[in-house]
Amino acid sequence: MSISTERAAWGSRLGFIFAAVGSAVGLGAIWKFPYVMGQNGGGAFLLVYFGCVMLIGIALLLAEMLLGRMSQRTATSAFRVLKGGAWPIVGMFQVLALYIIVSFYVVVGGWTLAYLVSALGGSVIPDSSDQAAGRFTAVISNPTQAIAYTLGFLALTAAVVIGGVEKGIERFSKFLMPALFILMLILMARVLTLPNAIEGLLYYITPDFSKITGQVLIDALGLTFFSLSLGCGMIVAYGSYLTQSHRLVSTSLWVALLASLSGLMAALIILPAVFAFGMNPNEGPGLTFITMPVIFGQMPFGDVFAVAFFALLLFAALTSAVSLLEGIVGYCMDDWRWSRAKASWLICAAVFALSIPNALSFGVWSAPLLGDKTFFDIMDYVAVNILMPAGGFAVAVFIGWVIWPKVRIELAEECNPLWQQVFRWICAVLAPVVIAVIWYTNL
Ligand code: PHE
Repeated sequence: MSISTERAAWGSRLGFIFAAVGSAVGLGAIWKFPYVMGQNGGGAFLLVYFGCVMLIGIALLLAEMLLGRMSQRTATSAFRVLKGGAWPIVGMFQVLALYIIVSFYVVVGGWTLAYLVSALGGSVIPDSSDQAAGRFTAVISNPTQAIAYTLGFLALTAAVVIGGVEKGIERFSKFLMPALFILMLILMARVLTLPNAIEGLLYYITPDFSKITGQVLIDALGLTFFSLSLGCGMIVAYGSYLTQSHRLVSTSLWVALLASLSGLMAALIILPAVFAFGMNPNEGPGLTFITMPVIFGQMPFGDVFAVAFFALLLFAALTSAVSLLEGIVGYCMDDWRWSRAKASWLICAAVFALSIPNALSFGVWSAPLLGDKTFFDIMDYVAVNILMPAGGFAVAVFIGWVIWPKVRIELAEECNPLWQQVFRWICAVLAPVVIAVIWYTNL
């Protein structure tokens, strides 16, 4: 971001695309996507997920970018500037979502850091899949270690946020994100040529519509929001640094495409491997971390690939965590007039506090608190399946009904009247209806 005008702005058009893709592509794709798909039984889940991305995800990305650019503000004050009334409250819930998400995101970021450290030490490749699972449990259940790695990851994130976003994100994303994609392609090629991998995969992704339960719907909806960084004001915050010269429609398409594709690629690495090694797709949050080392064990130079993979995953996780934190920091700077440094420090302290019970949910506090859910599961569910879709619902209604005349003018240069109408229809009707129906099936 160059600080030449009163408000910082993205250095270049590509800079914004990279930052938005960097925010979207992260642990959501590589950690969450495979295990949520694994828990929800394959093909039918994929269809619902891609349906949600195409039908509402892309339009909501555009809606949030518009909100940021038109107001030049982050979540709450964006609503205040454009309309006022009770609308800024929506922004507060979005900031709450960001806070909850970042506090469990740093825990998983910490696992990534731990795996990178053991890959660097050459000790990440297990003798068997059972040993891989045992090691994962050992890493995450030791309280001191889990908290220390969480803190380590949070410190890295904070360092980028305090230093300003440009140095960390715009510069490195340009080559590290493509490197991650290339590595994933190599891994996919390796896994799909393992014995039984393709058979397992085909069986798995052939859609079985009887498997579409309320749970599948809500998980697919949540994953749509999580993987595209939607519904929590974060895209609004990044959009607030946009100038009129940026093309938003194509940017939304790129972000949606790259984020959903990288999730799919990760699933096409992890799940076939799970079948080839006779592991359990229903493993839950540990799935990626347990499966990947077993895959590296099947590759020449597995140790080198392991280091590259966990290093790139760490980078991808960092760009996302930075955006989560930046969304909250931006809010405190806009609404409370805090300096960047003050906001960053105080928020990091608050995030660290909430990350502790999340980190301990896999060890000393692993007893379920509500139904079969641990503290971590509850935080995940509340933020991803409830708060994010609620935020998206509100943004859609706001754009489609409340400020539509202004939005239409804003869009006049970028898209023709037909697409404007399609966009409006999605915001005003389709997105709210889809979200409401999915919620309803879960009540
Ligand atoms: N989309 C990010 C990921 O997939 C997570 C995220 C959610 C980031 C919301 C910012 C806001 O890892």
